[in-house]
Amino acid sequence: MAKSFSVFEGRIGRNCFTTHLGLKRWLLTTSFHASKLNERLVLPETTLDPEDWIAFRKQAHEMLDAALDKMQSVREGPVWTPLPAGMKSDLKTLLPKRPQSHADIVDQLTALLPYGVGNTHPRFFGWVHGAGNPGGILAEIAAVAMNANLGGRDHGAIYVERQVLDWCRQMMGFPLATSGLITSGTSMGTIVALKVARDRALSFANRSAGAGVSRLVGYTSEQAHTCLAQAFDILGIGSAALRKIPIDENFRMDLDALASQIETDRSAGLTPFAVIGTAGSVNVGAIDDLTAIAEIAAAEGLWFHVDGAFGATGILSEYVRPMLAGMERADSLAFDFHKWLHVNYAAGCVLIRDAKAHLGAFTDRPEYLTGYSRGLAAGAPWPVDYGPELSRGFAALKIWSHFLEHGSEKLGNSITKNCDQAQLLARLVDQHPLKLLAPVNLNIVCFCYEGADIDNEEIVLQLQEKGLAAPSTTRINGQVAIRVNITNHRTEDADMQFLVDQVIAIGDHLTNKS
Ligand SMILES: Cc1ncc(COP(=O)(O)O)c(C=O)c1O
Repeated sequence: MAKSFSVFEGRIGRNCFTTHLGLKRWLLTTSFHASKLNERLVLPETTLDPEDWIAFRKQAHEMLDAALDKMQSVREGPVWTPLPAGMKSDLKTLLPKRPQSHADIVDQLTALLPYGVGNTHPRFFGWVHGAGNPGGILAEIAAVAMNANLGGRDHGAIYVERQVLDWCRQMMGFPLATSGLITSGTSMGTIVALKVARDRALSFANRSAGAGVSRLVGYTSEQAHTCLAQAFDILGIGSAALRKIPIDENFRMDLDALASQIETDRSAGLTPFAVIGTAGSVNVGAIDDLTAIAEIAAAEGLWFHVDGAFGATGILSEYVRPMLAGMERADSLAFDFHKWLHVNYAAGCVLIRDAKAHLGAFTDRPEYLTGYSRGLAAGAPWPVDYGPELSRGFAALKIWSHFLEHGSEKLGNSITKNCDQAQLLARLVDQHPLKLLAPVNLNIVCFCYEGADIDNEEIVLQLQEKGLAAPSTTRINGQVAIRVNITNHRTEDADMQFLVDQVIAIGDHLTNKS
């Protein structure tokens, strides 16, 4: 009925009937619309809640059991199972017009379960993926039930996110006044952090005037992740304004080269504004000398950002912590929970030392987002004052319950174990006809099967396709590397020997040795 009223009102508003003819025309028009509306009033029930809660509950329990079965058996079977051709084509349908039963939907969801990336398996070693954890299902169920929007306002979920951010601040050794935001990942955290850095460098005038052709330049190592250049691009600074500083023999930023590039840029009339250190480089796991970079940033008046996507959470590991010295001096730090802490995707974070600058870069609330000291719109500042997203999900809940379930010590020990496994793999590589291509510092081992014409990419593809293990590839000093990243709490030491045996078996076969 509410709809029909608004239509009538619209008609009345548009017909200014001062004459008899006008009134007649209006009556005709309204009765025509009324008959149309009567047709519409027979619309069926449109609530999206289940009609039969008992039946729905049964289906929900079945789905839960199927998910738990999948998670309990993640160590079994192939690492990666590609989606069968039949299922790929079955997925291509027209937009469904009519509802399907919950039973049918549970069947279709369950059928998809075996076809993930494979990162829940103990021998998934590709890129930098976390392995996930079953406990996350508890928080995800609660989050769905609450359906909270974390853009702002005063409700329970906001307090959980604030607590998670404070835990992060404590964990990373940042001061009490630090601000932060839970993000979808480090790429988004980086955009947020570098926007604050850029806006501060431009005295925030760019927020309304635009950055124009900026003279800003920033610095990072040649080994830095591509999300940094992308952030420069998105922020209108331009990816070419991110200087890629050469590395030393340990794949860390060469600090003499950094100093000389800053000098060159200043002489050319450019404005250096930020330097970005990496805590765990994606290719080899190198950690820049963060203390030295902090010193240079302070001396040059640069914003010091750390990309700690996976490495920063190494702060929880007794073994990794000393390598991260200086990270606590950063102006901003972006990192992930979904990588080495194994919170289920997607969950990242950005911390900003200068909360005032953080607010200055984002807050801009119009009248319909007015905050109050009481009621639902209380509780400033809101997350929307710290980032570009107004509607935000409740990722903080799974992070919060993850820390409750495991505690920081166990999470740190799992990181140490992965570093030990990387050292073990490096030793095994040494003992076999394989060659290490980079020093093993953290959790990443880059090596190759040695031989004149051996195709190491083919070895990796066969490992993946046979479901034996899933490393990825990269290039180290121009040479194709089998890249083994161990951010996996399920990996066992025996998996290292298994991997080496399989690489050698495939390599031997390719070189006709077997
Ligand atoms: C060093 C580094 N930085 C940034 C990223 C991007 O993080 P995300 O995938 O969470 O956006 C990654 C991803 O692997 C990474 O390894």
